[in-house]
Amino acid sequence: MENNLEFPENFLWGGATAANQLEGGFDCDGRGLSIADALPSGKKRFEIVQTPDFEWKIDENKYQYPNHLGIDYYHHYKEDIGLFAEMGFKTYRFSISWSRIYPRGDEQEPNQAGLDFYEKIIDECLKYKIEPVITLSHYEMPLILAKEYGGWKNRQLIEFFARYTKTVIESFGNKVHYFLTFNEINSASQHPIMGQGLIPSNGGNDKKNVFQAWHNQFVASSKAVKIAHDFNPNIKVGCMLLYATSYAYNSDPKNQIANLQNNQDFNYFCGDVQIRGQYPAYTKRLFAKYGFTKADLDITKEDLQELKAYPVDFISISYYMSTAIETTGITNEQVAGNLMGGVKNPFLEVSDWDWQIDPTGLRIALDELYDRYQKPIFVVENGLGAKDKVEANGKIYDDYRINYLKAHIEAIGEAIVDGAKVMGYTPWGCIDLVSASTGEMSKRYGMIYVDLDDNGQGTLSRKKKKSFEWYKQVISTNGRVL
Ligand code: BG6
Repeated sequence: MENNLEFPENFLWGGATAANQLEGGFDCDGRGLSIADALPSGKKRFEIVQTPDFEWKIDENKYQYPNHLGIDYYHHYKEDIGLFAEMGFKTYRFSISWSRIYPRGDEQEPNQAGLDFYEKIIDECLKYKIEPVITLSHYEMPLILAKEYGGWKNRQLIEFFARYTKTVIESFGNKVHYFLTFNEINSASQHPIMGQGLIPSNGGNDKKNVFQAWHNQFVASSKAVKIAHDFNPNIKVGCMLLYATSYAYNSDPKNQIANLQNNQDFNYFCGDVQIRGQYPAYTKRLFAKYGFTKADLDITKEDLQELKAYPVDFISISYYMSTAIETTGITNEQVAGNLMGGVKNPFLEVSDWDWQIDPTGLRIALDELYDRYQKPIFVVENGLGAKDKVEANGKIYDDYRINYLKAHIEAIGEAIVDGAKVMGYTPWGCIDLVSASTGEMSKRYGMIYVDLDDNGQGTLSRKKKKSFEWYKQVISTNGRVL
């Protein structure tokens, strides 16, 4: 039965992936190592990297590194993009591995073989009229930049990133119209290793370094906007925020103010700078919370001018869950979540990985973001990480995934009715890939199943799940049949 939702005619339906989680080919054709290659697998991944003696090195006697193989997209991309086309994708969001283009990160000249690989990906997409959306940095800076330069807290990275961006834009800016700068830039408040390359031994536990790294990334983001617009004014550059809709646990004013500040500090701080082009009014309070002031950071007048001159063109978000804020001690029941946990919300169910499922939270997110910024919003990640079972007849009946996606698509439709301008929807891991938080393969998001287990065993063959046909219908009816 058809619904009454009205998605815009040019709505960008598709799917999203990240290089380090699917490509494999980690040492092919001159690619340098990235920080993702040195992340041990398993549920204790973040605990391990937080230990004081964690080092940037690969120790195969001690750990497994599933990102090295990914799902071997490096050698299967034609088949995979063909399947995306069969689902009717209008767009495909993927990331470029910075260390394929600049293997160390600090070179003057790029690695041509790396550029050739992405040219083939882009051409394969265009063959099917799939609009590529490219993330420039998705949790994988070149390892050398983290190891020898100390990650994003080092100002030199601005210049390295600008060089990399220029190379990418000059190579692909005539074929690709949408670029995102830093994936989930705000996630560094919980795990600075992923987006900033900061671990305890290079200062990752000092919040001042996290804010300095953010500042450098903000300036790099502005430079990326300038580089893109100078090359081709039709290119749109977006920021990418991890948005976890935040509720006060109850009407106690103490929880209300804590919730307001959580929104500012977590959901909005990075976006306020990247979208509005200036540090927000609450910055002083936020810095003070961690015991420093603006004078303790290296922020120049020229930086501030650059931020003002080149804000992003649109906002992109990942949305998986909401969070509840409780500061008065009435509950301590915790749940896990997308790179951040929190208090359990008694009104919500959780996924197998203990993430709270809340489609209405997505409607609220889109309404709040549009009210605040009046810029188009692209939902570039959303989905359910679940265990799939291949039945005796070879089929995978992933109705739980369909239900999750359906409810979230409805929420987007409702936000559009509310007045929010939403550009598109690219569910995460449209093809199964390695989990970012745990390195597991068994945490699956895809509409396409990949035969590979947590120990790297399997044929790597691809198989359509029930959700494949379902999503195909969603796209072909422009969201009218869910
Ligand atoms: C986001 C990331 O945090 O969520 C992705 O941008 C990640 O890289 C996705 O894979 C889902 O998280 P996870 O931990 O289940 O892979």
